[in-house]
Formats: sequence, C-alpha cells, structure tokens
Amino acid sequence: MADARRKLDIVGEPALVGSPRIHDSALKHVAGEAVYIDDVAAPEGLLHAYLGTAAIACGRLLSLDLSEVAAAPGVVAVLTAADIPGANDISSTHRHDEPVFATDRILFHGQPLFAVVAGTREQARRAATLAKAEYAEEPALIDIAAAHAAGGALVTAPLTLRRGDVAAAMAASPRRLKGAMTIGGQEHFYLEGQIALATPGEDEDMQVLVSTQHPSEVQHMVAAVLGVGSHAVTVEVRRMGGGFGGKETQANLFACVAALCARRLKRPVKLRPDRDDDMVLTGKRHDFVVDYEIGFDDEGRIHAVDAVYAARCGWNADLSGPVTDRALFHMDNCYFYPAVHARSEPLFTNTCSNTAFRGFGGPQGMVGAERLIEEVAFATGLDPVEVRKRNLYGGVGRDLTPYHQTVEDNIAAEVITELARRCDYQARKAAIRQANAKSPIIKRGIALTPVKFGISFTATWFNQAGALVHVYTDGTVSLNHGGTEMGQGLYIKVAQVVAQAFGIGLDQVKITATTTGKVPNTSATAASSGSDLNGMAALDACETIKTRLTEFAAKHWQERPEEVAFLPGRVKVGAREIGFRDLVAAAYLARVQLSATGFYATPKIHWDRQAGRGHPFYYFAYGAAAAEVAIDTLTGEYKVERVDILHDCGQSLNPAIDKGQIEGGFVQGMGWLTTEELAWDAKGRLSTHAPSTYKIPVASDRPRIFNVHLLENAPNREPTIHRSKAVGEPPLMLAISVLHALSDAVASVGNHRICPRLDAPATPERVLDAVDRVRAEANL
Ligand code: MTE
Ligand code: MOS
Repeated sequence: MADARRKLDIVGEPALVGSPRIHDSALKHVAGEAVYIDDVAAPEGLLHAYLGTAAIACGRLLSLDLSEVAAAPGVVAVLTAADIPGANDISSTHRHDEPVFATDRILFHGQPLFAVVAGTREQARRAATLAKAEYAEEPALIDIAAAHAAGGALVTAPLTLRRGDVAAAMAASPRRLKGAMTIGGQEHFYLEGQIALATPGEDEDMQVLVSTQHPSEVQHMVAAVLGVGSHAVTVEVRRMGGGFGGKETQANLFACVAALCARRLKRPVKLRPDRDDDMVLTGKRHDFVVDYEIGFDDEGRIHAVDAVYAARCGWNADLSGPVTDRALFHMDNCYFYPAVHARSEPLFTNTCSNTAFRGFGGPQGMVGAERLIEEVAFATGLDPVEVRKRNLYGGVGRDLTPYHQTVEDNIAAEVITELARRCDYQARKAAIRQANAKSPIIKRGIALTPVKFGISFTATWFNQAGALVHVYTDGTVSLNHGGTEMGQGLYIKVAQVVAQAFGIGLDQVKITATTTGKVPNTSATAASSGSDLNGMAALDACETIKTRLTEFAAKHWQERPEEVAFLPGRVKVGAREIGFRDLVAAAYLARVQLSATGFYATPKIHWDRQAGRGHPFYYFAYGAAAAEVAIDTLTGEYKVERVDILHDCGQSLNPAIDKGQIEGGFVQGMGWLTTEELAWDAKGRLSTHAPSTYKIPVASDRPRIFNVHLLENAPNREPTIHRSKAVGEPPLMLAISVLHALSDAVASVGNHRICPRLDAPATPERVLDAVDRVRAEANL
C-alpha cells in the first residue's frame, strides 16, 4: 500500500498545483482501508441507539406507550423529548420549526418520536418498532398541487426578482406563450448513510464523530440540545462516503440523538439508521413546478419572462429559503432577459424536509431556463442552439442578471462554439435527422446546453474559512482546515497548495481530520466553495510561517529578505541553497514560531434579499455539454449514446480530481433527470425508499462515448486560489443536455413541429407518453 502510493507520488518531488494527483485516499478507498465512522474500533462500553418514528404524515400525537420498547431484549434506555436537558430544537434556521422529537404535532411520516438504546444495533432496531402510539390523524398535504389547493402556506419568506417593466414588455412582445413544467426531486443516495458516534468525556465534554458537511453546526446543535457550551463539544469528521448536500443539515438529528443518549447513559453511543429509514427520514432535492410566461419575437429573441418557481419544501424550513433563492438566481442560466419578474414559492408540505442537493436549487432554475429556450425554438422553428446563442449575455446593455449583478466574466459563447466544433454538432444533427427518417421505431436525438453557475454562498457571512498549519522540526507539515472531505478531493487540493507553498513534497504534508477543536466557526463545506475558501485560508497560514522563516533566514545568514526564496525542494538564501528541513531546524533553535492559523473571506460580494439586488456571486463557472440519445418509441426506453463536455475549472488545481467531479456530477445529474423518481402514497409514505424502487444510474448507464475536456488557458479573472474555479456542483447541470436530447428524439415523431414539453425525470414512461402525445398532436 505504502509502496503503491510512493510510485504515484514520488517522495520529495514538489507537489505542483495543477498536476493530476490521485485522491489522497483513492488506494485506501478501493482497498477498503479508508476508515469511515462505522469502521472505527468500538469503544469500551459502546451502546447502539435507534429512532422510533411517527406512522402518520399529519395530525396529533395523543399518547405514546413505550413500555414494550423498554422491556424488549437488550434495551437499556428509552428517551423522549422529556429527556432533553437543553433545547428540543435542531432547526438550522431561526424559525425553531424542527424538534428533535415530536411531542404533539406530527408533520410527516417518519418524524422521530423517541430513541431506544440497546446493547446491539439489531436489538435497538427491533425494539423501536414496539411503540404503541395513538394519533388524531388529519389530511396530509403531500405535493405542490395539494399545498396550492390548501392555500399555499410557505415555510419561509419567498424571494421576488424584478428588472424592467415585465407587463409592458410582455404586452409589447410580438409573440407570447405560457406553460408549466414539473421538475422532480432526488434522493442523495450517499454510499455511506447517516451515522454518528458520541463519546462522553470528563465533566460535560462530548466528542462526536459524525458524517457531516457542517461540523460547526453539529457542534452548536449538540451543545444546545445538551444545554452546555459549544466549548464542551468537539465534532470530528475524517471523511464522508458522499454527502452531496444531504449532510449539510441532515446529520444534525443523528449527532444530537447519539450525544443525548451518550450523555444520559455516560457511555459511547452509535446511531446508524438503515438505508430505508435514512431515505424516509432525511430531506432530498426539492421538486418544483415552474409556471412561466414568455414574450419573444420571430428571430427567437426573448423580450420578457414572468415565472413562479413553486417548491415542495416539506415540514420545516431547513435550507428551503436559500435553495429556492438559488433556483431564482439560475432561472436565467446564460441568457439575458430584457424584462423579468420571478417569484419563489417555498411551500409547506407533510413530507420529509427537503434540503441541499448538489446545485442547491440552481439546477431546477436552469432546467426552467432551458425549457423557455426550447419553447422559443419550437415556436420559431429555429435550431435550439441558435436560440441559445441569440439570447446569451453579452453586448451593450445585455449583461445584467435578474438580481442586478453584472456578468463580467462571460465565456458562454466561446464554450458553446468550441464544444459544437469539437463534437461536430451540426453535422451530427443533420445525420441524425436523416437516419431517423429511415428508422421507424428507434429515434435518435441530440442537444447542446450550456451552464453558468454562480459561485459563493448567498448568505454572505458563510464565505469565510480558517486553517491551522504546523511545521514540525523535521520539516514535515500537519494541515488542518474547516473544509470536510466527502470524496470530492478537497483535502488533496489544499495539500497541493500547502506543499507548493513550502516547496516540499506532498508526502511531507499530513492531511488531518476536520475538527471543531482545531478550526472553529466554520461554514458547511458546500456551495462548491470548499477549495476556494480553505485553499486560500491554508495558503494564508503558510505565508505567515514563510514570512517568519524568511525574516529569520535573512538575519541568520545576513542577506536581504528579498534574497530568500522557497523553491521546489530547497530554499535559496542569497547564493546559498539549503533544505527546507534544515531551515526549519535552525529556525526552531532560534525560537521562531512554526505554527500559524490562516483566514480568508471572499471579497466583493453583497446581497440585499429584500430589494432583490446585489452581487451575490464572486464569479461564475461555465461549461457546456452535447448529448446524443436513442429512444425506443414502442417502449419509451432509451440509451445515452454519446456525451461531449467542455467545462471551465479556471486554472485547475488538480485536473484528475476535476475530471472526476465533472464525470460524477454529470452522471448524478443524468440520474436526476432520467430514472430517479420519488413517489409518496396518499398517506404520505415514501414508496421509493430502497434501491429496488429508486433507480440511480449504474455503470452500464454511463454514456457509451464520454468525452470530457477541461477548458484550456482559462484562468479565473478573479484572484481565487491559483486562479482556479469551483467544480463541485456546476457539472451536474451539464446533464440538462440529456433531457433535451430525449426531447429532440421525441420531437422527431412529430417532424419537430410540436414541442414535447418533457417533464423531469424523463423516465421511460414519460418518454413514451410524450411520444404518443406528440404523434397525436401532429395528427400522424
Ligand atoms: N463529490 C463527491 N465525490 N461526493 C460528494 O458528496 N458533493 C458535491 C460536490 N462533489 C460531493 C462531490 C457537493 S453538493 C458540493 S457543494 C461540493 O462537492 C462540496 O465540495 P467542494 O466545495 O470542495 O467542491
Ligand atoms: Mo452542496 S448542495 O452545496 O452541499
């Protein structure tokens, strides 16, 4: 193992930023040696907790008899809300709308009522089913239609964006049309499910290992639930087996319940729900219904857009405010709307509380934008790519977004043109039309769609990060920062930054677990900004240490500080060259501090939500994808034959990792828009709570031909870490090309005269329905 590692990262070789290093845990991942929380050796006296949950979606809890639970084999304790020493509240907003355990109102099927603790996980799990609850059941609001019918209660304040006089612009538009689009939700399906292991210490101390993207929030929640100060709680995360936004707030419950039980029993307690319960209990991507009106002209130019983005938020606010805001921030994608009005509708429903999911509402906003383009293309008979190009930001007075931020770094036109050239879009489109004419059953389709994704948290204060760097006297370095590792390669990227800063090998930098004890008050690793923020904070710490070492070296060897330079593998001091290790050893003897914290706050950004104006994004990441599909018009089944991607990572910190993010993000997006479909029954029970009923993409769903390229010579125009760009979320939206390729294939059965208006996910059933509808409408 160690030898294999050495072959890939030659010892002592400078770890250059921008080189395609493998993920620091890649070999451990495949060898099964990477330690996840369930792999941590069981501490002495470990107990296991399990959650007991509500069997109705809406109503009152009249009584809860837990005597059989308590009497079940192996059970040592049963805890309810009455056992919480602090606050029965884990809401991530200030709305206090998420209790740990329900006491009276039940708001979704699966809401936690109590926890049972036993000697083994199996005992706890079986005991949890033995509760006798009585309810006064009320009708549940399951979906957006039901929420609307009941008056449309919101979980949080909606956002309105407005620019220009939409009514006037709409009235003056040569052509107008209205429509609606349904966009489905998505289960995160992280491979490692939710899990927490809490170990009580001396006094009120509590250590929590938890699979979370947001250790600081878990720390604060655990402290509040236990009624202790945050300084008593330490939260540590070495790695997650995937988060995808599903562990930004959703881990709080499991951490708090494990800690509550550990505190009560004074023993370590682990809580790991099984996959079905994980899927039932935790929030997912919001599904949306977008109602739109669009004004345009015969040249395919958009004049006005008026849209409402309604989202199923579930039973509490959670992140639904910022998620629905981000949907509106991306309702333009790459396109300029001369006049625009848009409103979000974060609707309350009696379902799990929907939450962050890769793209954070942005993908839904963008799917809506691409539907508008498709409508205009069919109405005018123009090629959709031509319509896209005609509506791109750019040109005098055409660079202002609906939220009044000027697009300053627009490269959408270049990216589209370059990708279309590389993948031969026009010629292949013509060939597909010809082939379709001779193929009565199998129809092919092609589409090319762009992406422009705003980078930064829209909650401005989250755009900060801290790091802690120690240099030991042998010249090795310990690196810690507030970002968490969920497979995206954040740790290796930041390690590359640090190794390069000191001119040492990657093997000299020890990557350490994220912990609230080392770097405090961190933001969630989210909004794709992990490397932007933590890379900068770590570099800041390195610069502090390097400044001290430079001053020391200058004084020690009587040179001017400008004569000191950190080069790969050595430090130049005047004419002298010495090893980093020797410099460090000498500096230690001279009592120079070899440890530093670092900090970073993103410049330039501001946002006034009330006014719907500001500069919420530091910059935009761009990309484009062309997808080709083949559908079977008798069954609706399809295959993704070929995908070409050109994506903008700025000056990539690590092209191997970035390529992995692009491929993974694309495939995850493809699953969302094609086969992944969530269903709740009339009683509010999630029917799709296992891989048997919920279909994520598998290896064989991968596009047969999959050409992924990073945009070259495209450094970020903002001074981000080594001019790179965030890559975690934007590529997911490249998969919108698959939805439109399917639509193109469906449209072929009506000679491309009828807009298929294919909703998402475009499951085989939906594709088949659309084929029938288009045929009927075309009178064929
Ligand atoms: N990649 C992997 N392998 N696993 C994940 O859970 N999460 C995505 C993305 N890529 C995720 C991933 C999401 S939702 C985000 S916001 C970013 O990674 C977070 O990490 P970053 O900010 O370091 O890119
Ligand atoms: Mo990602 S949805 O911002 O965790």
